Amino acid sequence: MTDSSESALVEARRQAATQPLASAPVQPAPAEAGALLALSNVEVLYAEVILALKGVSMQVPQRGCVALLGANGAGKSTTLKAISGVIDSEDGRVSGGSITFEGQPIRGRDSAAVVRAGLVHVMEGRRVLPHMTVEQNLIIGGHMFKSAAAMRQALAAVYEAIPRLAELRKRVAGYLSGGEQQMLVIGRAIMAEPKLMLIDEPSLGLAPRMVEEVFAVLHRLRKQGLALLIVEQNTRVALEIADYGYVMESGRIVLEGAAEELRANEDVREFYLGLDREGGRKSFRDVKHYRRRKRWLG
Ligand SMILES: Nc1ncnc2c1ncn2[C@@H]1O[C@H](COP(=O)(O)OP(=O)(O)O)[C@@H](O)[C@H]1O
Ligand SMILES: [Mg+2]
Repeated sequence: MTDSSESALVEARRQAATQPLASAPVQPAPAEAGALLALSNVEVLYAEVILALKGVSMQVPQRGCVALLGANGAGKSTTLKAISGVIDSEDGRVSGGSITFEGQPIRGRDSAAVVRAGLVHVMEGRRVLPHMTVEQNLIIGGHMFKSAAAMRQALAAVYEAIPRLAELRKRVAGYLSGGEQQMLVIGRAIMAEPKLMLIDEPSLGLAPRMVEEVFAVLHRLRKQGLALLIVEQNTRVALEIADYGYVMESGRIVLEGAAEELRANEDVREFYLGLDREGGRKSFRDVKHYRRRKRWLG
């Protein structure tokens, strides 16, 4: 292990150990009790002036898989950050609405407490510790374990769910391909033994074959009972795995429905899948023209 990676490990552990347990503000129970995750009228302010979310309501059922779709800048990442609490470290705050996880209010809790409650957030950009091995990266995700035995058990479970990581465990993370790094950050997140994973643009920048592999991992985790909230610009793969989807635009949900309904929806087909009425591929120019029309704002 190099000096810098060792100090990164020490620093990560120190931060994990010193995270204060913030108390959550009292909120009314949502009408949607029973959902694993429920957002009701959530508003987010950045820098006290930019209203990035303007009243977002959505739900993820127990063991469900939900896709959150939308163009760049719509507010998808902000939604995930509001849920997991990392919004605090980006000069943002949830300024309205309620967020509950398993019926408990989590709005305003710090991100470490949210992880302990069973909700993990895989951020965009595959942030691995590049100088450390795959296994060291995974162990950092398991910092909350009480014993070495419990940690080894979680590691074994990760390797079983994502066999590719077992093959790569001695490799230095910085040299992995984009798809392998995406599997690593997913593996690191499931070290926390979550019930729900929020995952931000897992397919971004990956070759099509790697996108398939990463989604095969997500399919497997789903089958094991993990609930997923997936943010994607790759609408096709997202609607293949999800049972339900929401479409966001300018900080609001503008469309929602069962995944098969969204796949069949003409607006979604044209706008996101780039297909025309007969299922033929539209030209980029047509789609661009369509984008300018922004039909579902009207
Ligand atoms: N840290 C930030 N400070 C100020 N504005 C931000 C910040 N992060 C995002 N925004 C703004 O909030 C809006 C939603 O951004 P984001 O949630 O990243 O969208 P998406 O993930 O859908 O592309 C955008 O207008 C973006 O410029
Ligand atoms: Mg984003």
